Amino acid sequence: MSKDKFYITTPIYYPSANFHIGHCYTTIIADTIARYKRLEGYDVFFMTGTDEHGQKIEKKATEAGVSPKEYVDAIVDNAKDLWRALNISYDKFIRTTDTQHVLVVQKIFKKLYEQGDIYKGEYKGLYCTPCESFWTKTQLVDGKCPDCGRDVHEVSEEAYFFKISKYQDKLVDYIDKHPDFIEPISRKNEMLNNFIKPGLEDICVSRTSFDWGIKVDFDPKHVVYVWIDALSNYISGLGYLTEDDTLFKKYWPADLHIVGKEIIRFHTIIWPIMLMALGLDLPKKVYGHGWLVIGGNKISKSLGNYKDPREYIASYGVDAVRYFVLREVPMGNDGNFSESALINRINGDLANILGNLVNRTIGMINKYFNGYVENKKINEEIDNKLIESALSLKNKVSKNIDDLDISLALENIFDLLRSCNKYIDDTTPWILAKDENKKDRLATVLYNLVECIRISTVLLQAFMPDTASNIFRQINTNKTTFDTLDRFGVYDSSNVNKAEVLFRRIED
Ligand code: ME8
Ligand code: MG
Repeated sequence: MSKDKFYITTPIYYPSANFHIGHCYTTIIADTIARYKRLEGYDVFFMTGTDEHGQKIEKKATEAGVSPKEYVDAIVDNAKDLWRALNISYDKFIRTTDTQHVLVVQKIFKKLYEQGDIYKGEYKGLYCTPCESFWTKTQLVDGKCPDCGRDVHEVSEEAYFFKISKYQDKLVDYIDKHPDFIEPISRKNEMLNNFIKPGLEDICVSRTSFDWGIKVDFDPKHVVYVWIDALSNYISGLGYLTEDDTLFKKYWPADLHIVGKEIIRFHTIIWPIMLMALGLDLPKKVYGHGWLVIGGNKISKSLGNYKDPREYIASYGVDAVRYFVLREVPMGNDGNFSESALINRINGDLANILGNLVNRTIGMINKYFNGYVENKKINEEIDNKLIESALSLKNKVSKNIDDLDISLALENIFDLLRSCNKYIDDTTPWILAKDENKKDRLATVLYNLVECIRISTVLLQAFMPDTASNIFRQINTNKTTFDTLDRFGVYDSSNVNKAEVLFRRIED
């Protein structure tokens, strides 16, 4: 089942010692899609990393009394450690301080300068340092940064500009001809109507008032604007404009850039225009997801309304955290995070539906057949619906993954698990067990359950990898690939292992 390549990225994160559950959101979604595509047979390249330049970092380093490089080196592992704790299966972790990235950004800048898309001028304007964003007066909200609500300050300096105005019509045309390029639709309309169609002004793409950035190699008092630097990661990480551009040739254009809604503007205006100017293909899709909020507020250090995500992982397990994030928020919307909502999902879905099903099934197999499962093929009418649901599951889940309806994809799987629990209630194995003549029917019922658990678990691997391995071990199967889903009855007769509790109910 050799399929195409699939290149998926998260944004590169500002290095931080204070990651919160919101930061995990993009990465958990991207990881799930990457894992799912690998299971489908795609040759996946999944990249994440850190965005380490800019005035904000320089300031923090100065405050800490260290050089910017020392400052980022000390905290960049915090991101890697968090992704490890969350089981994030990235293929490459890029740092914008990597030599390769630095050289590629310099080459991109020079190329755009030499062909006249970047030119020198003078910049006067308003800058929001925390967001690393320039604003015009009319874009401000109550005189503050429209994104974060903080103060902006005036800057005036010699600077290079990127002629994005030249590409406005081309960009509008591209978006019109590629209806899947920006999703969800609401964000596409917002970009077109509020930002692009009213008119694109050339943007300032270099700074001279601070040092911590990539130097313009032909004019080194300038550092490259952090967004030009950061966006380039998606191609520099593949070796674009380097001696070895094998990965670039193989994986570009990206199939999916998944980003938070506050940075979709950069990814659907500056980035495609950079690519057009470089003569490169555009990513197939940029998806802007919503935010996790707490009590209606953005999660933030200053609000003090969050814990380190590793604390939730330590208390509830990594897969409970992954499940919550994937299941609770319909893609595209904002969703509320609270520990009690997390506990509700653990108790309601993971313990009651999934854990209970696996536990009851294995328990009955141990009790009635000394752990041995065998399909005696004494089927009844009631089995048909369950088997049909199991066989149609993969297509439903795959479609929802392709539509990026991740929550719905999980719901599909849990619908089957719920049907299995109902199947137990309807077939009443404990009554069958009392009748010696019903032994083969009982074995068939338990076989059907194990096979449905196996099928669900093959799909669940992408969402909850540890839990899936645990279930495969408990039901003792190595039939874990997607090509085992086309037929009902792939599970081989075998002895199940001892039942282990997958998710313990959390009492208040
Ligand atoms: O923006 N809910 O980095 P970043 C959901 N370096 N997602 C959230 C969130 C929340 N509460 N808080 C943060 C940057 N995120 C740039 C990107 S890409 C070329 C450069 C998401 O560390 C946010 O939306 O501020 C973004 O997708 C990611 O975390 C990294 O944010
Ligand atoms: Mg941000």
